[in-house]
Amino acid sequence: MPVKDLHAHPFDEGTITKLEIFENYAKEWLPTFIMSYPNKDLWMFDFFAGTGKDQNGVAGTPIRLLQQVKSQAGNIFNQKCKINICLNELDENKFNSMQICCDEFVHSNNELLRLYDKYLFLHYRNGDFAELFPKTLDTIKENPSLLFLDQNGMKFLADKYIMNLESLPHTDFLYFLSSSYVLRFGNTPEFQTNLRLDMEKIKENPYKYVHKNILEQLKNKLPNDSDLKLYPFTIKKGANIYGIIFGAKHPLAVDKFLKTAWNKNNINGEANFDIDEDNKKCQLTIFGEKPLTKIEGFQQRLRELILNGDIKTNREAYDYTISQGHIDKHAAEEISKMKKEGLIDFEGRTPLVNYEQTYKNKRIITFQVIKK
Ligand SMILES: C[S@@+](CC[C@H](N)C(=O)[O-])C[C@H]1O[C@@H](n2cnc3c(N)ncnc32)[C@H](O)[C@@H]1O
Repeated sequence: MPVKDLHAHPFDEGTITKLEIFENYAKEWLPTFIMSYPNKDLWMFDFFAGTGKDQNGVAGTPIRLLQQVKSQAGNIFNQKCKINICLNELDENKFNSMQICCDEFVHSNNELLRLYDKYLFLHYRNGDFAELFPKTLDTIKENPSLLFLDQNGMKFLADKYIMNLESLPHTDFLYFLSSSYVLRFGNTPEFQTNLRLDMEKIKENPYKYVHKNILEQLKNKLPNDSDLKLYPFTIKKGANIYGIIFGAKHPLAVDKFLKTAWNKNNINGEANFDIDEDNKKCQLTIFGEKPLTKIEGFQQRLRELILNGDIKTNREAYDYTISQGHIDKHAAEEISKMKKEGLIDFEGRTPLVNYEQTYKNKRIITFQVIKK
């Protein structure tokens, strides 16, 4: 299968979107874990690290991780956390460039130099992910870990990898895949033996939804009682569709990812373009009714669930919100509006539909329905 070599060209806009999402998530992840796990080892794995930067010197994933460690240097010293970064690249030339690039970066940043070998450990690997991953599983299981799987193509989406990730307790992962390849090669025996997907079902929907549809099928493969939550972010690059799959078990991790994704696109929080044509819906009227945008549709469903008593508390509303791929702000706006309209009542001024109040402070309030 022909795979474009990213590093032979400057990073394109789609690649930059991917890198920014990876980096922005690391920016949220690091301080949360540093503050939650003093004196502990934290691990970040960049399994497909590339060369470190592109032709024009634009930072790739390894340098972006180091930049985030640098910005947390004060907290790392205070909390005495050991930050371990495993940087793996299969191609020997790229591996050498990446190692030089990262070493230079560490040596030209005083904050990193001060951390180096005491609170910052770089573990370079020049291997095949297929061999390295099983060897690292114990470390991943034993320590809070963030995994970047920035593969070309889709090879490492095979069932066995997804099931391994499913079994990990404190692990968040960002998985990149070329969804267009899945569409093109998914029916070949090579892929069907490793990754069984219903290609006909995927093809029933418009091409732009291919990444989202792959993710729906992956969700169906998870055990019924799995706590793992998966979310898509579709990236269109020219005629091709790529995407990120984010996975985590902890609601705080999901909260952070969803905020990262909605920051990138405040229309849908799930693509680098207007995937559901919400901008058009703002102008359209069908038989006197305006079609609902993604946010409006969610808010209407939430309203109905509260009014018919299926959602009774701020915690239930928050769980529903993140399960639907929305952020707390969308829910809080609607619930406040319902109170103003005299439909519901609750204690206090704001509905407290956020992670802080529901999970951290365990402040649970009940919504009383006044009028339906
Ligand atoms: C999409 S690029 C990664 C880009 C990189 N994260 C960056 O930010 O520049 C994928 C990389 O994975 C490497 N690669 C391909 N197969 C691999 C394997 N089986 N194990 C590890 N690395 C592999 C490729 O050489 C390529 O550099």
